[in-house]
Amino acid sequence: MSTIEQEIKKRRTFGIIAHPDAGKTTLTEKLLLFGGAISTAGAVKSNKIDTATKSDWMEIEKQRGISVATSVMGFEYQGMKINLLDTPGHQDFAEDTYRTLTAVDSVVMVIDCVKGVEQQTEKLMEVCRMRNTPVICFINKLDREGRDPYDLLDEIEDKLAINVRPLTWPIGMGKTFKGVYNLFSKNLLLFKPSKQQLSAEGVEVKDLSDSILEEYTGDTLANQLREDVELIEGVYPEFDKTEYLNGQVAPVFFGSAVNSFGVKEMLDTFINIAPEPKGRETEEQAVEPTDKDFSGFVFKIHANMDPKHRNRIAFVRICSGKFERGNSYLNVRHEKKFRFSNATAFMAQDKETIDEAFPGDIVGLYDTGNLKIGDTLSQNNIGLFKGIPSFSPEIFREVINKDAMKTKQLDKGLNQLMDEGVAQLFTFEMGARKVVGVVGNLQFEVIQHRLKNEYGASCTFSPMNLYKACWISSKDKKKLDEFVKSKYRHIAKDKDGKLVFMAETKAWLQMVQDNFPDIEFHFTSEY
Ligand code: G4P
Repeated sequence: MSTIEQEIKKRRTFGIIAHPDAGKTTLTEKLLLFGGAISTAGAVKSNKIDTATKSDWMEIEKQRGISVATSVMGFEYQGMKINLLDTPGHQDFAEDTYRTLTAVDSVVMVIDCVKGVEQQTEKLMEVCRMRNTPVICFINKLDREGRDPYDLLDEIEDKLAINVRPLTWPIGMGKTFKGVYNLFSKNLLLFKPSKQQLSAEGVEVKDLSDSILEEYTGDTLANQLREDVELIEGVYPEFDKTEYLNGQVAPVFFGSAVNSFGVKEMLDTFINIAPEPKGRETEEQAVEPTDKDFSGFVFKIHANMDPKHRNRIAFVRICSGKFERGNSYLNVRHEKKFRFSNATAFMAQDKETIDEAFPGDIVGLYDTGNLKIGDTLSQNNIGLFKGIPSFSPEIFREVINKDAMKTKQLDKGLNQLMDEGVAQLFTFEMGARKVVGVVGNLQFEVIQHRLKNEYGASCTFSPMNLYKACWISSKDKKKLDEFVKSKYRHIAKDKDGKLVFMAETKAWLQMVQDNFPDIEFHFTSEY
């Protein structure tokens, strides 16, 4: 096996997704502790923005700082190189999360056993489904009085449209929580609440009818567990790794992240079953990780952390070949080569300069404004990587310039913030009105604040009555031209110059779709 093949086999690149408060930060920290990447609890900072302090700008800047520090956390575990990609906790920055999900090979989904499947989890799962991303489910907070485990599993299947297969099973819950039974290795893990201790005590119970079970759990729970295990083995088909890798079935673990309980079982299974970096497609060809030539794409940009310098870090997911610092690589969009002499790898919370990196790895490249989200970097022109779409935003406002003397700064600032993916900009064909589309209102505040602070430009936002931005296309170019002409007032262009139909209401969009059957309307920029 070549060095590069060995390196690929070792890599597992994944993200943790969760509705805020389900325990993502806590679980992340425990995984890093198991991986020996950090030594004390409390080292991982939550990247949540507290809604109570959300208009506090310091809070947002602090969040950006934390977010750059914890965007990628690399660690080693049992000979594997694991890259954990963090996703923003606040739902107003969901688009950032969607993009991060394009750079991972699998995800771990955390669900609070008290609250069950929450709204944000549903949305994130939709994004995972678009790429058939393999999902492992961790049901958290079993030390609390939560919902019935069967109900939780049904709800996951129902709301997240994925089959589940429990691999551990809880014994009691909340005050009566005794531990979990590992259905795979058939041993019992006993629960002792401890925020400090890392591994739980395990006892082997090869035969569930053995009365030793009663000693550990008491009569009632022992009988309940026997019944549960029989039922589970009867109802759920055996766990099938291929189905998991195809994104059809999610293995489920129960535990309590804050007590480090059930986490190791999940991590051990994760490194056994989670996929290594896979091939990806560009507009022109299929790219395999083992291909000799380097390629990768930008999925995140962090800019202007220091207002005095216009420095940015572009996060690049490596897809094939070996990245070597100091080499020149082609930016496919510009058709121009750039040399990257300053590259960073992310290990736990430290950044360190690296000389080489392999498929599955994330490197941070210092950039002066040549890169934007979705860009492909490669040795040769292989076309742009697919699968990094923009989604139709949900809230739209028109940008009103408040200082005519600073028009240039406003334009520049807006363009750069859009390159970073802070929000989406649509420019109407008529009157060149600029409309910013976001997922959550907090993004407007961030834009306004950063335009002022970093570019010296002032603007306000005027509400617009828009329902969706639909990217439009047609097999018949003439029909598309006619449509654009007839709906001129509602046509805009996105950041890449693609045509977008700005629909005011759902009903109206439906009517337009019915009246123009030759036009295709898309809710993402990739179709
Ligand atoms: P998030 O990143 O998904 O938003 O969640 P985070 O890990 O910050 O956890 C949210 C809250 O849930 C935290 O409490 C955390 O301690 C708690 N938590 C995490 N895992 C468990 C668990 O297994 N059992 C119980 N009972 N609680 C858990 P907090 O009060 O917001 O913060 P803290 O002061 O406890 O850190």
